[in-house]
Amino acid sequence: MPRKVNCGIDYDDGYDDDFDDYDYGYDVEENVKEPSLQDTIKRGVWRCSVCTYDNDDTMSSCDICGILRSPSVSNGTYDEKRTVHGICKVSGVSIMAKSLFASRPHQMSKKEVDSQQQNDDFVVKENNNFHMLGNNQGQFHEFHKAYSSPTHSRINIAPFKFDVPSPDDLVSNGLHSSAQHSKGKDKHGGIIFSKNLEINPSSGFKASDKSSASMAKGRVEDSDGRSVSNNLCSSGQSSSSLMPKERTDMVEDGSSLTHGGEGYLTSNLKNMTLGAKSGNSKDIKANSRAQYKPEKWMFPEKAEGSLTQLNLAIVGHVDSGKSTLSGRLLHLLGRISQKEMHKYEKESKLQGKGSFAYAWALDESAEERERGVTMTVAVTYLDSKRYHVVVLDSPGHKDFVPNMITGATPADAAILVIDASIGSFEAGMDGTKGQTREHAQLIRSFGVDQIIVAVNKMDAVEYSKDRFDLIKSQLGTFLRSCDFKDSSVTWIPLSAVENQNLVVAPSDVRLSWYHGPYLLDAIDSFQPSSRDFSKPLLMPICDVIKSSQGQVSACGKLEAGAVRSGSKVLVMPFADIATVRSLERDSQTCSIARAGDNVAINLHGIDGNHVIAGGVLCHPDFPVAFARHLELKVLVLDGATPILMGSQLEFYAHHAKEAARVARISSLLDSKTGKVTKKAPRCIVAKQSAVIELVLQESICIEMFSKCKALGRVFLRTLGRTVAVGVVTRIVEELV
Ligand code: GTP
Ligand code: MG
Repeated sequence: MPRKVNCGIDYDDGYDDDFDDYDYGYDVEENVKEPSLQDTIKRGVWRCSVCTYDNDDTMSSCDICGILRSPSVSNGTYDEKRTVHGICKVSGVSIMAKSLFASRPHQMSKKEVDSQQQNDDFVVKENNNFHMLGNNQGQFHEFHKAYSSPTHSRINIAPFKFDVPSPDDLVSNGLHSSAQHSKGKDKHGGIIFSKNLEINPSSGFKASDKSSASMAKGRVEDSDGRSVSNNLCSSGQSSSSLMPKERTDMVEDGSSLTHGGEGYLTSNLKNMTLGAKSGNSKDIKANSRAQYKPEKWMFPEKAEGSLTQLNLAIVGHVDSGKSTLSGRLLHLLGRISQKEMHKYEKESKLQGKGSFAYAWALDESAEERERGVTMTVAVTYLDSKRYHVVVLDSPGHKDFVPNMITGATPADAAILVIDASIGSFEAGMDGTKGQTREHAQLIRSFGVDQIIVAVNKMDAVEYSKDRFDLIKSQLGTFLRSCDFKDSSVTWIPLSAVENQNLVVAPSDVRLSWYHGPYLLDAIDSFQPSSRDFSKPLLMPICDVIKSSQGQVSACGKLEAGAVRSGSKVLVMPFADIATVRSLERDSQTCSIARAGDNVAINLHGIDGNHVIAGGVLCHPDFPVAFARHLELKVLVLDGATPILMGSQLEFYAHHAKEAARVARISSLLDSKTGKVTKKAPRCIVAKQSAVIELVLQESICIEMFSKCKALGRVFLRTLGRTVAVGVVTRIVEELV
């Protein structure tokens, strides 16, 4: 049974009652009332401009919706008082978001801080939320000065080649390259822990549960109070050996890549290619991929006979029935017992939410149940004939898109759930308020290219074929524009509530016009994703679980390589070496985990505070990059506000989230040829592609897309919406 880690703490304590009157139609931007600076200081809180929740002053992102606070106000410390046995006491909803978005210890130079204090555009007011700063034209000269300190003085923009077809291009054009791997399906973990955070082999967990809340503070200093950068240089290992001096394997033999999965983004970006060779290459000191020799145990043996793991994101507009569908599937497949189901039915009826009985299996927090809305990605498991499916039930509400991004990025495939009811499908397709389009674009940008469109609530439209056809035609056009191929999209009319077309063919005669596969059948028709078994270990940390005995487990999906009990791993960004004590996959202890597996890796020989969500486990000889100045190739999404130099954005990559500022717009790219059409444009507008440079508030673990797709995909948001998607093309300045 899926379970949201609850830690036995009442997360409703101190909860702002105002927020209880949740209104789907609530227009956040219009209703934001900014508290005065005086109020904020007096009350020790800051108000989220999206959900208006009053967060404690020590929080760097909103406890409810995960939106970042103003970059300047973090105190940069880990507040021990707010934790119980390392578990954050604040609301579980945001904890998860925070655990996913945990940031590194503050490491701004004094100069940078000074600059920020002087630069109103960057800081504005202490209590302003970061995204409120919007697309302001910043005083870049001021900002740039901050980076003119010795550590940032070597910023050097290298030219790119834009004329070489990428592996993704080859695939999109139907030309299969032997070197081509899958779309680098992203990551996310499903791990099973009990309420008291001890490893428990019987329950599921919410993708961003409270257990890692302590990490969510992000501002973790090591025991000596040193910053990360110090720590990196003075940890047990020599930093020079751990932090790559040379990203040789980024170069990938000089091949060029495009972003392969950005929805309609792809139609604009797929012809944009670029040389991955960085002008900033340093002396080769770290191991190159050529030197990496995988061992035999790292490859799966066919005889193992286990089901292939499939990470399946359930996405779609709010209230389309994602959780109900997931809960119903779990029940039909025996993952939820009859007894448990009775309990959900009884309890939901008592709360006047009888129609949410199945959704309660996934929406486990009091907040979610009260409001009847999913807030964080729930992770659970089911088995089909062919796959061991990791179900990632995402929130549909627009306020929780950040949680959807960080929780569902590991998806290999997706079910896009559509509410067929009259008016509801149309609401989901609304360009500004609907999430159907945004989720479809995001999913495509995660690298997912095969989806099922589950046209749900067909009972509400009398299983009308006309309604189904209309939805198929309108949404189909949009999905094509997102670069989903018709052959990779399966359309299924169904009803989760009436159990039609889920695990067997429909029994209702009103669906007799439908002759396609039922849902479970369609899931089995997904193509398995290829996995990078032969590359060095890379596992972005989605979540961190600490037991009361002081044990620490890093949870996530292995993007590359393999690991087994006794393996030594490098835990970034702290560059600590730890030993794998044990592994758990879907509640079962296992001895080996390989690329594609969602696992909890129990580590020993490491300070638990040095394992943080947003960090990465890697092979000790092949550390992931740790950087804050990045070059990206982006596509600005339809309807987004222009991006200017100095614009402040929320930056998302794998399970990391950070405040960012556009430091340079290098060039505009032709969407068809990928060639530079204009150098140094003043801004980029909707549907334009460009090469830009971003400077993050703090360094994060990141890789170039050419090296690891999962770690090189980025999403930029502001004012509560996704404005651009893209890929990391160069790490301009890496922390060494
Ligand atoms: P969020 O996670 O908040 O985005 O919502 P959701 O997509 O998970 O929707 P949820 O499962 O919470 O269901 C929302 C409402 O739709 C509930 O009242 C369900 O009973 C109802 N619902 C779900 N599936 C069906 C269906 O097949 N038919 C009908 N008539 N109602 C349904
Ligand atoms: Mg839901």
